[in-house]
Amino acid sequence: MRLKSISIENFRNHKHLEFQPGWKINNIFGSNGSGKTTILEAIHYCALTRGFSASSDRECLMFGEEMFTIRSSFESDRGVEIGVTVAYSPQKEKRILVNDQELQTFSSHIGLIPCVTFTPREMVIITGGPAERRRFMDTAICQYDRKYLSDLMQFRRVLQQRNSLLSTGDDPSKIDTALEVLTDQLVTHAVQIVMARERFIGNFSEMLDEVYRWHPDGLESEITYHSSLHHAVKQLSREQMHTLFRERYRAIKKQELMRRQTLAGPHRDDLQFYINGKEIRKYASQGQQRAFLVALKMTLHAYLFEKADEMPVTLLDDLFSELDTKVSGVMLETLSSKGQVIITSTERREGKDITPFRIDE
Ligand SMILES: Nc1ncnc2c1ncn2[C@@H]1O[C@H](COP(=O)(O)OP(=O)(O)O)[C@@H](O)[C@H]1O
Ligand SMILES: [Mg+2]
Repeated sequence: MRLKSISIENFRNHKHLEFQPGWKINNIFGSNGSGKTTILEAIHYCALTRGFSASSDRECLMFGEEMFTIRSSFESDRGVEIGVTVAYSPQKEKRILVNDQELQTFSSHIGLIPCVTFTPREMVIITGGPAERRRFMDTAICQYDRKYLSDLMQFRRVLQQRNSLLSTGDDPSKIDTALEVLTDQLVTHAVQIVMARERFIGNFSEMLDEVYRWHPDGLESEITYHSSLHHAVKQLSREQMHTLFRERYRAIKKQELMRRQTLAGPHRDDLQFYINGKEIRKYASQGQQRAFLVALKMTLHAYLFEKADEMPVTLLDDLFSELDTKVSGVMLETLSSKGQVIITSTERREGKDITPFRIDE
């Protein structure tokens, strides 16, 4: 996939901006606050229907304006043109058009334009809490597995109902039947989610170890997945998992009633990252943590390519300031064979296959 052109209006500090990136590495450079990250965020909107992690649509609307519009044109590896327009106004909310057809559900768009990002704020995947790692995992799986997204959404809905039932603190005998029904539904979705996550992490971890070989220090790496519902070492069948999860909820029922919330499930899972057998969050230096995040993202690129048979678009924000020159040098070289890459920096980056774009031009 390749972004051919993008036109941005009233989006953060950009009143009007046009950008036509080239095939390989595109380096957007300019001073701080000039709106480099904002361009990547606009591309992110077109690929994944939203901005970067925490920002809301409204925050992206230029102060004092009524509507932002992003018009973009992509071309798939097989030469198919895809036009994506995102428009937002507080009155009409967000609308997305793909080839001039308005989308009814945004989730149907996710995966059409595979996209991998690296932004310094994503360091929380490594240093932050479990929710950040679950988000990383969920966003990755959603890009190639439609069913996963719908399972996640249904799981969240049932979880909410179950939590509100538990929070009433009613006499257990009164809510018992309803609780059983909800637990059953919860388990059904939980099994789907946990199985998809296990499959993903199993393959992804192996790929990561290969990708990590590019690292100048040649370190070994591993990711492990910890489900809060089971710690089985061997692969379970759907039925076995279902039975096991039911038993687990039976075992913690008293506690859940007392604490008035759902204490285990995919919403409590976590990942652990290791290099050379040591947990990164606890033992690695900041430089190693950054390099690991880059490796995670490069693995995701390879993984999505394998799943979708379509090169993802890579958006790298301020990557170089985050890495030492040895690592960033190796990385740039690797990247030139990874399809289209759009990378921001304050200083212009020289090199083979790099097209520079100065932001104030
Ligand atoms: N809604 C908004 N309206 C107008 N300006 C905004 C809005 N949101 C952010 N900005 C400004 O836009 C600029 C965007 O900066 P950013 O894209 O992060 O720049 P860079 O990545 O080049 O440092 C910042 O100066 C920020 O204050
Ligand atoms: Mg920036």
